[in-house]
Amino acid sequence: YLNYRVPRTRRDIFQTLIKGLQRLEYRGYDSAGVAVDGSGKDHAASISLYKKTGKVKALDEEIYKNNAIDFEAELDTHFGIAHTRWATHGEPSPVNSHPHRSDKNNEFVVIHNGIITNYKELRKYLVSKGYEFESETDTEVIPKLIKYLYDNRENEYVSFSTLVERVIKQLEGAFALVFKSIHFPGEAVATRRGSPLLIGVRCQYELSTEQIPVHSTSSSSSSSCLMPSTKLHPAGHITSLHIAIIEHTNKVIYLEDDDVAVVMEGKLYVHRIKRKAGEDPVRVIQTLQMELQQIMKGNFKAFMQKEIFEQPESVVNTMRGRICFDSNTVILGGLSDHLKEIKRCRRLILIGCGTSYHAGVATRQILEELTELPVMVELASDFLDRITPVFRDDVCFFISQSGETADTLMALRYCKQRGALTVGVTNTVGSSICRETDCGVHINAGPEVGVASTKAYTSQFVSLIMFALMMSEDRLSMQQRRLEIINGLKKLPELIKEVLALDDQIKSIADELYHQRSLLVMGRGYNYATCLEGALKIKEITYMHSEGIMAGELKHGPLALIDKHMPVIMIIMRDACYKKCHNALQQITARQGRPIILCCQDDPEISKMAYKTIELPQTVDCLQGILSVIPLQLISFHLAVLRGYDVDYPRNLAKSVTVE
Ligand code: F6R
Repeated sequence: YLNYRVPRTRRDIFQTLIKGLQRLEYRGYDSAGVAVDGSGKDHAASISLYKKTGKVKALDEEIYKNNAIDFEAELDTHFGIAHTRWATHGEPSPVNSHPHRSDKNNEFVVIHNGIITNYKELRKYLVSKGYEFESETDTEVIPKLIKYLYDNRENEYVSFSTLVERVIKQLEGAFALVFKSIHFPGEAVATRRGSPLLIGVRCQYELSTEQIPVHSTSSSSSSSCLMPSTKLHPAGHITSLHIAIIEHTNKVIYLEDDDVAVVMEGKLYVHRIKRKAGEDPVRVIQTLQMELQQIMKGNFKAFMQKEIFEQPESVVNTMRGRICFDSNTVILGGLSDHLKEIKRCRRLILIGCGTSYHAGVATRQILEELTELPVMVELASDFLDRITPVFRDDVCFFISQSGETADTLMALRYCKQRGALTVGVTNTVGSSICRETDCGVHINAGPEVGVASTKAYTSQFVSLIMFALMMSEDRLSMQQRRLEIINGLKKLPELIKEVLALDDQIKSIADELYHQRSLLVMGRGYNYATCLEGALKIKEITYMHSEGIMAGELKHGPLALIDKHMPVIMIIMRDACYKKCHNALQQITARQGRPIILCCQDDPEISKMAYKTIELPQTVDCLQGILSVIPLQLISFHLAVLRGYDVDYPRNLAKSVTVE
C-alpha cells in the first residue's frame, strides 16, 4: 500500500492493509503478517514487523497489543506490505510467516507467493557467507540474498529495482514478490514469475494514458533506463488478487513473468531485464467490471467448481521442481533422505479416509508394478479396527488433504509405535500428520475450500505416481515404462483442459439425471478408483444414492439392480481391462440398461452400445484416472446445483474431520 502527499495516520494504513488481508481470508491461510514504516522522526528509516499464526483478526489484535508504535502519527509517504500464508515449507508459526526479513534491523523485507525450488542451494551459499536463518521457509533466502547483493555492491549506485532484478536471476520456481527496504524509503518493488501479481492504480486526475510502457534494461544499467510514465496520485496498490484492492480502484495492470515494477514518487515504472523480440512493449491498464463476491469465486458458482477448473494448474504445482523432463528423473525432496530405507522395506501400506483413500486405490497398481513391493491400501478406521499387524520394515503412507483427519492420525500413531517408517502425503504443511510423520510429500494443490475434495485428489494421485517413478529410477528394465509415464505427466495439464472443455456436454447429461434417486458408477482396473471417487462425490453433494461398482463383481450381485430405469455410468478406457469392460457392458445392455459411457475418443464399438458417451483424451493407463474422474466431479457439481443444494457446504459434513 503506497500513498503520497495526502497525509494518513498509521492507524489508517494498518486498517487498509488488514482489510485487504481480510478480503483474502476466504481462500484459506494459516498465518498472516504486515510490515510498515517504523516510528521515529525519520519514520521510513526503520520498519516495524508484526506476524501471527491463525486469523487476520489475531494479527490485528497483535498490532495494537503493546502500543509500541505511534498510531496517530501522520505520514505523507508510506508503503506497507501484508500477507496471508498457506504453508509450503515450514509449519505455520510467526517466524515462518511473511514478511521475511534480511536481518534483525529489517533492512529488507519481502512477501512471497509461490515456491522457490532452488532455495536449499541458495540457503547453503548464504549460510557460507555468514547469514543466519530464522525460519524453515523457502522465502527467507530472498531478503537475505538482496541484502547480500546490496552489501556487496562495491561503491556502485544500485537502484532498488536493479537489486531485485539481480535477485530474481538467481531464483528458480514460482513467485510473486513485493520488497520494502529502509535503504529505499517509500519505494515499492514488485515482480513475478509463474504466480499472479497485479497493480491497482488510482489517479487523482483522469488517466492520461491507458497503458504503461515496458522498458527494457540491460542488467548492468537498469537504473538509468527508468522512464516516468503515468502519475499515480495519490495511491498505488500491489496484490496477488483483485479482491484485496477492488474497493480502492478498479484500474489494474497485470504484470507479466519477469516484469519488475517500481512505484516511486507517485510514478509507476515497469521494466524487464531484456525484452525479447515480439514481446508486448506495454502493459495495458484494464478496468475490472466485477463485483466483490464475483471475484472471490471468479466466474464460478462455487469453490468446488473453481477448484475443479484449477486442476490444470494444481497438477503443475504438484510436479513443479520435482520432475526433470530432460533427464527423466523425479526427486521428492522430502523423501530423499529416507529413500534407501524405503527401497529396503517389506511392503508399502497406503492409509487414508474418503477421497484420500481413493487416491491410494488409484495408484496401487502402478506402485506394485514399479516398486515390485506388496502394496496394501487401507481405510484408516478399518485398519485400526482390525488391529492390523505392522512391522518395523513396513513403510506406511498417510494420505490426507487436511493433515488433521483423526482416523488417519490415529493410524499414524499406531504404525509409529510399531516402528514402521511413516510418510505423510498432505496438502497442509505444519498439520499434525506433517509434523508427526518421519518424512513426507507436500502435494502443493493450494488451499481447497469446497468440502468435496477435487484438486487435492488429482494432486495426491500425481504425488504417488511421482513416488513410484522415484523408486524405480535405477531399474533398467523399467526405463521404457517410466519414460512413457513421465511423458504422460508432461502432457497432463493440456489433457485436463480438454476434459474441462466438455463441461457443457456434461451439464446436459446432468439435466437428464438430476431427478433420479440413484446413480451407479462401474469400471475396473485403473479406473475402479474413479468409480469409488465419482460415487462419493455424487452422494456427498447431491444426496443421491450412488455406488462405485467393480465391473468384475457385476455378476456376483449388482447386476440384479439393472433395468431400463436404473441410471448407470460406465468407464471403459483403452487399457488392459478393455475387453472385460466390454463384456460387462454387454451384460448391462442385455438387461435393457442404458449406460452413459466414459470412453476414449473415437471408439465406435463402445459408442454404438452406449446411451450417451463422454469421450476423453487418452493417456497412459496409470494416469487415465486423473482424466476420468473430472467428468464425475463435474457431473456431481451440476447435479447438486440442479437439485438446489449448497455445493460447498454439504449437510452433515465438515472439511476437516478431527473426531474419530
Ligand atoms: C470427500 C472428502 C472426504 C475426505 C476425507 C479425508 O470429498 O473430502 O472424503 O477426503 O474426510 O480428509 P483428508 O484428506 O483431509 O484426510
